[in-house]
Amino acid sequence: MSATELTRYYAQRAQEYDRIYDKPERQQDLRVLEQQTTQFGAGQKLLEIACGTGYWTQFLSQQAKSVTAIDYNQEVLDIACQRDYANRSVYFVRDDAYTLNQLDEQFEAAFVGFWWSHVPLQRIAEFLHALHAKLKPGATVWIMDNRYVEGSSTPISHSDDAGNTYQTRPLDDGSQHEILKIFPSSADLEQQLSGVASSVKVTELTYFWLAEYQINQ
Ligand SMILES: C[S@@+](CC[C@H](N)C(=O)[O-])C[C@H]1O[C@@H](n2cnc3c(N)ncnc32)[C@H](O)[C@@H]1O
Repeated sequence: MSATELTRYYAQRAQEYDRIYDKPERQQDLRVLEQQTTQFGAGQKLLEIACGTGYWTQFLSQQAKSVTAIDYNQEVLDIACQRDYANRSVYFVRDDAYTLNQLDEQFEAAFVGFWWSHVPLQRIAEFLHALHAKLKPGATVWIMDNRYVEGSSTPISHSDDAGNTYQTRPLDDGSQHEILKIFPSSADLEQQLSGVASSVKVTELTYFWLAEYQINQ
C-alpha cells in the first residue's frame, strides 16, 4: 500500500474529522441517513469501505450479522476501534480500497460512505472491480456522499483535464491540502454504475445523496 496526498491528509485530519458531523444545517439529513443505515444489511455480513473514524460503523453494526470495516489509515482506525459497538461483531482491517487484498472472504452487502467523491473518475472502474470481487452475486451496495451546497460545502478550487474537481482544505495546524472531491449528479452516478449494476436508485437529500444497487449476478 502506498500513501497518497489523500491518505496523508486523512491521517493528519483524524483527530479533527468528526467535527464534520456537527455542522448544524446537516443535522436533519444526518438523522434520516443514520436511521436508514441502521437498517441496511440487517442479518448480513457487511463490508464497509473507507470507514474512517467509524461514524457509520456504529449504525451499520446494530442489525448486521457482522461488519468488516476497512480504511487505509491506522490513525482513523484507532479512533473507530474506541467506539462502543455493544459487543457486536465489528472487525477493522487496514486495507487499500483499490485492492482489498487483506480480505479473504465474500460479503452479502457493502456500504461505501463518503469515499466515492474521492475516487478519480479514471479509477472508478478499478475501485468497483475490487469491491465487487469481494461481494457475493446479487449483493446490495449502498454508496453515500455529499451534494454540493453553496455556503455549506468547501468551494471547488480547480479541475483537471479528466474532469476531476478539487478543494483547498485547511487543517488545524494551518496546513493547506488540495483534495480531489467530486460531486456527481444522479445522471452521472447512474451512468457510472450502469455497466456493473442492476436497479440503480439514487436518492437526493439536501446535503447528501445515496445510490443503491445490486451487483449483476
Ligand atoms: C471522507 S473520509 C470518510 C470516512 C467515513 N466513511 C465517514 O463517512 O465518516 C474518507 C476516508 O477514506 C480513507 N482513505 C483514503 N484513501 C484510501 C484508500 N486508498 N483505501 C481505503 N481508505 C482510504 C481515509 O483514511 C478516510 O478515512
